[in-house]
Amino acid sequence: MSKILEEARAYERAENAGISEEGRPIFHFSNPVGWMNDPNGFSEYRGEHHLFFQYHPYATRWGSVHWGHAKSKDFIKWEYLPAALAPDRSYDSSGVFSGSALEDEGQQLLIYTGVEERVLENGEKSIRQHQCIALGDGLDYKKHERNPVVSAAMLPKGSSMEDFRDPKIWKEDGKYYMVVGSRSADGSGQIALFCADSLDNWSFAGILDQSKNQIGKMWECPDFFSLDEKQVLMISFQEMEAEELEFHNGNNAAFLIGSYEKEGMRFTREKLQNVDYGLDFYAPQTMLTEDGRRIMIGWMQSWDNPMYPDTQSWSGIMSIPRELSLRDGRICQWPVHELEAYRRNLISYTGLCMEKERKLDGIRGRNIDLELVLRGKEYKNFKIKLAADERRYTEIIYDREAEILSFDRTYSGLRRDLLCTRSMRVKSKEDVLRLRILVDSYSVEIFVNNGEQAMSSLIYTPLDASEIRFSSSGRALMDIRKYEINSLLA
Ligand code: FRU
Repeated sequence: MSKILEEARAYERAENAGISEEGRPIFHFSNPVGWMNDPNGFSEYRGEHHLFFQYHPYATRWGSVHWGHAKSKDFIKWEYLPAALAPDRSYDSSGVFSGSALEDEGQQLLIYTGVEERVLENGEKSIRQHQCIALGDGLDYKKHERNPVVSAAMLPKGSSMEDFRDPKIWKEDGKYYMVVGSRSADGSGQIALFCADSLDNWSFAGILDQSKNQIGKMWECPDFFSLDEKQVLMISFQEMEAEELEFHNGNNAAFLIGSYEKEGMRFTREKLQNVDYGLDFYAPQTMLTEDGRRIMIGWMQSWDNPMYPDTQSWSGIMSIPRELSLRDGRICQWPVHELEAYRRNLISYTGLCMEKERKLDGIRGRNIDLELVLRGKEYKNFKIKLAADERRYTEIIYDREAEILSFDRTYSGLRRDLLCTRSMRVKSKEDVLRLRILVDSYSVEIFVNNGEQAMSSLIYTPLDASEIRFSSSGRALMDIRKYEINSLLA
């Protein structure tokens, strides 16, 4: 093992000794120490779910990227494992960037982007991003002797040599495939497909799709999978111009939904769908479970508008893993059913008539799973204030007439001038709106109409602010079910 990795592991061991659940999310994955961004290598290995992540153990800001590692049997309770990869070779000395994993002939295969920075003879800086492989047993990994196995020189002429990253690998009929994010000659994103008969002998197989300066600039963190009768190319893209209420984060994730002609390896895009409308959701990745579910996890943070809590030794929260499904041509997301095993102490009300501001006995908390059904067409606005105390609150507002759902954390206890609101168009079906809201210490995820849309954002409100208040302008009928989530009890 390299000295750099050994040091990272020793540092983790020393820091982790003190890890407790206090002041942490309870049912969302957060990193043991330091900084975390993208989920990596989200996959099954020997019957367990593995999650790796972009990781800088020594600071709560991005830098010197390693791969952190954890595993779980149920997506909710995670066991930390020692850091898996460190930037310890010349070809990855400037970072072990994002990538994916695969169980392959008994081994766990990791594929990642190695970043190499050099100063050339003429004094200019050269950055190269290339794809590298490591093989291991679920704990320790050995980098491939022939790394990097894929370089940007294999891309079509004019493609960027610097922006070429985040391989997502899969195996089919004995052959390896990967999609990689890159930039074409016009400076905007493209997704390249590579294939191989053996791990060190890859060839370029084509460009699956490209932005042509229409869908943002650089395309990163691609994923490519089938979902029912459709094929999905999921991407995270930078510098996207907002359109109406779509794509306000600059860096956003999108599903490109279409069809795939396998023989010719040609993808045809039919539709573009925003993955998440919240302030904090990026770089999602999916995996297929043994029972055939396509599960997606994303990083809850924004590059452009980041919230860094300054009182913690860790910075990074993943979304709840979400099962994807296709309904009426849209991709829907729903928290994995495994979460339901952690629900406790149900409090429910049915047919409540809501008019003015009110609290409900037992409906409060910061680690909760809330299901809400709103009925009626007499009200104009319906508001939920959560994580509230006398001064602070975060608000979810449904404007029924405009059919817009908004999230607002302006008064969540922020001390900095950050963006605080996002809105999305939602349709109530026959004057019924269904919300499922997961609040877990510092995050709020809203799933609308059985997962047709999702909206995920961070709030760093002190944890004792746990009241929930409802108000309605005009009469609305509400059913509500609230569960506490307590991962300690399961
Ligand atoms: C996305 C990303 C990836 C890259 C990683 C670096 O958030 O920019 O493209 O591999 O983060 O940490």
